[in-house]
Amino acid sequence: MRYRLEKLYSENQIKERIDELCLVISQDYAGSDLVLVCVLRGSVYFAVDLTRRLTIPFTLDFISISNYGHETGPLGIVRITKDLDIPIAGKQVLVLEDIVDTGLSLNYLLRNLKTRHPSGLRVCTLLNVPARRLVEVPIDYQGFELPDVFAVGYGLDYHERYRNLMDIYALVRETD
Ligand code: IMP
Ligand code: MG
Repeated sequence: MRYRLEKLYSENQIKERIDELCLVISQDYAGSDLVLVCVLRGSVYFAVDLTRRLTIPFTLDFISISNYGHETGPLGIVRITKDLDIPIAGKQVLVLEDIVDTGLSLNYLLRNLKTRHPSGLRVCTLLNVPARRLVEVPIDYQGFELPDVFAVGYGLDYHERYRNLMDIYALVRETD
């Protein structure tokens, strides 16, 4: 199978959009006890750039989940492979996602985090692909809405490749 990369968003467009998100998030969470939850591994690049431009105090923590559904079909079997290090009870939690596609991972993650009784629980995703949604999930902040494509770059991988690309691309299958 051969693939080509088609650019969707440039490094500069991503930076500008993150600046806009940071303005809104810094206003919305002014004066609150904010915990940012970065979902490993794809969201690391987004989380680093976003957190550096926030103008409010926050705590950053990491969680890792694996979704076996992506390998075997849309089963949505999700589990936590690395949990948060800090308790989030009574905190304002904002989940930082790279992409919300089927919504299965995020749906599981939100249900799990809710049991820990945060005072608020919201989602900020860089990319949103509503056309591929299988379960409804609330998105409070989003960078860009994508059509039904597989995205790579800026943290997003295809079998661990392309994470380091500065821009975001669609991975397009070549027909020959
Ligand atoms: P879900 O389908 O919304 O559960 O997506 C779960 C995870 O799969 C995302 O957080 C990504 O890490 C990965 N993923 C989903 N769609 C894409 C894509 O288009 N490119 C790269 N990774 C993806
Ligand atoms: Mg992810």
